[in-house]
Amino acid sequence: MDNMIIQSKDLSKIYLRGAEKIVAVDSVSIDIKEGEFVSFIGPSGSGKTSLLHLLGCLDNPDQGELIVDVFSIMKDGKSLSEKKLTPIRRDLFGYIFQKFYLIPTLTVKENILLPYAFMPRNGERQSAEAIAEKLGLAHRLTHLPKELSGGEMQRVAIARALINKPKILLADEPTGNLDSKRSDEIAGILSDLNKEDQITIILVTHNPVLAAKAGRIIELEDGRIRD
Ligand SMILES: Nc1ncnc2c1ncn2[C@@H]1O[C@H](COP(=O)(O)OP(=O)(O)OP(=O)(O)O)[C@@H](O)[C@H]1O
Ligand SMILES: [Mg+2]
Repeated sequence: MDNMIIQSKDLSKIYLRGAEKIVAVDSVSIDIKEGEFVSFIGPSGSGKTSLLHLLGCLDNPDQGELIVDVFSIMKDGKSLSEKKLTPIRRDLFGYIFQKFYLIPTLTVKENILLPYAFMPRNGERQSAEAIAEKLGLAHRLTHLPKELSGGEMQRVAIARALINKPKILLADEPTGNLDSKRSDEIAGILSDLNKEDQITIILVTHNPVLAAKAGRIIELEDGRIRD
């Protein structure tokens, strides 16, 4: 049997807005295999970001069960403590967002190496040069983010997400701020990372070219998976 890296059962997220209850994620059961490339699509407000944040352990579920790798994140109405979640987020996941969230005062190299500021010193480390080379950024290492194109900024964000060698890469609209040429470039990079490095990729996108790179496309509607 294939190894599952993420398993959710009846996972829900409920937001309270005043007296109103918003069920952003509604009993989602999903199994994602190690090395799989999955994309979530669906209209605005269908719960894509909320679900991605649950699967990525960035947010606590309100109901259901969630297992990530060997860790039981949520079970019997209880989620893992923040203290235990921190190393899981840091060691298992890389995160990419629509807004690149680069630090404007740091160079490309410093931005790529930023995750190491939060990691134990004795761990194995990759060089920024090697990862920059892989992402076509070798000539940009000493530049500041403002000197880059949008596509380059997102590639720096991807390099930063990969520096800790995550098993799972999560991306929320990674091409949302890019033109079609740059978007295709990012789509190609994600596809290569999945095929060549067997990184599990879970992505949310409105971009059909990007969504089509995934082996499985899952449609969300009102917080639920559409059959
Ligand atoms: N922090 C929050 N507080 C209250 N409601 C929220 C919060 N975050 C999201 N919601 C609501 O939950 C629902 C799902 O939102 P979510 O952001 O997950 O949708 P989405 O599919 O990512 O949309 P988009 O395509 O616009 O990014 C929406 O009704 C949204 O208004
Ligand atoms: Mg969203």
